[in-house]
Amino acid sequence: MIATETRIPLSALRRNTAALADPVLTDRLGRPLRDLRISVTDRCNFRCSYCMPRDKFGREHAFLSHTEILRYEEITRLAKVFAGLGVEKIRLTGGEPLMRKHLDRLVSMLAEIPGLDLTLTTNGALLARHAATLKAAGLRRVTVSLDALDDAVFRRMSDAGCGVNEVLAGIDAAAAAGLGPIKINMVVRRGVNDQEILPLARRFRHSGHILRFIEYMDVGSSNGWRMDDVVPAREILARIAAEHPLEALDRDTPGEVAERWRYADGAGEIGVIASVTQAFCKDCTRLRLSPEGKLFTCLFASQGHDLRALLREERDDAALAGWISSVWRERGDRYSELRGTAQAPTQKIEMSYIGG
Ligand code: GTP
Ligand code: 5AD
Ligand code: SF4
Ligand code: SF4
Repeated sequence: MIATETRIPLSALRRNTAALADPVLTDRLGRPLRDLRISVTDRCNFRCSYCMPRDKFGREHAFLSHTEILRYEEITRLAKVFAGLGVEKIRLTGGEPLMRKHLDRLVSMLAEIPGLDLTLTTNGALLARHAATLKAAGLRRVTVSLDALDDAVFRRMSDAGCGVNEVLAGIDAAAAAGLGPIKINMVVRRGVNDQEILPLARRFRHSGHILRFIEYMDVGSSNGWRMDDVVPAREILARIAAEHPLEALDRDTPGEVAERWRYADGAGEIGVIASVTQAFCKDCTRLRLSPEGKLFTCLFASQGHDLRALLREERDDAALAGWISSVWRERGDRYSELRGTAQAPTQKIEMSYIGG
């Protein structure tokens, strides 16, 4: 059942909050708020060595309890307030978002908000089972993580009971359901899976899917990151271009994380996400909501702002909008530009908690 208030048009929401918000809400560096990444769970069915290594996220790890995480009604109410403040794109993340029960119910509630680009980032293992239902609920597209085509390399990296074929089946099911254009994310780690760059590139040429190569980042404090592990985007592109010449494309939007390229022979598009070697903080329009309702103004932030307390104190939407606006106005984060300097925060939240 969808509450009638979810049908309030975006223009009315914008008007309602206009008194509280700037005409365009911007942060201390002049960046507008455009994207909200909502992490719906801190749980995951994978144990990727670079994100949730099993020795740190084993049986004894205390995940958030059901009462701590936001209910779908609470997330939807917040999403409407965010839309009123300028958010145009919502991405559902995790952990693994498909681990949360009846996610299609949340999707259908969010899909009622007019004009939103509603998407999901998943590891793909459960996607074949859910793709058609998610599409029917109103999801627009999906991004699937896939770090190797070779099954042994994939299993070593994901440390899950699932193999490459299940993820490929998830991608096929998503394409069949109309959840395209599908993006495929490969996190590249030198000496671990960089030999998989070309096999993956070859596999997805002519597929219509957009394969994106991500520089391995120093998120959280579990992955023991070293600069030597990073394969710079320039090197990735050079390796691919040596086999299949590439031409640069413009970014879709200024805040987009990926630099876009296309194969000169018309075989499709690829992307590189160079957050280590070419930081894109100056155009960063993203805000993150954690499973238990904390707002994080940067992927590398050390602390969140507790929105759940406010929500459960039964404040009205205008009060929530005013509070969120003040968090955004105060924002000055630019971690990737400061990486390695004394100004960069050393304590960081885990990627599995905030969803990348
Ligand atoms: P699209 O809008 O579909 O292009 O989605 P997206 O690329 O923003 O989302 P996705 O979940 O696929 O993220 C791709 C990669 O970019 C992941 O490794 C994210 O962690 C990384 N990423 C996304 N947003 C940010 C950001 O604000 N800062 C940094 N440093 N990395 C980010
Ligand atoms: N560096 C870069 N990308 C990462 N991801 C997870 N951990 C890292 C990391 N340390 C990716 C996931 C997923 C996306 C949301 O973030 O593989 O595709
Ligand atoms: Fe791997 Fe994503 Fe799960 Fe982290 S959240 S362990 S990157 S599948
Ligand atoms: Fe945005 Fe922080 Fe990423 Fe920079 S490091 S792009 S400010 S989330």
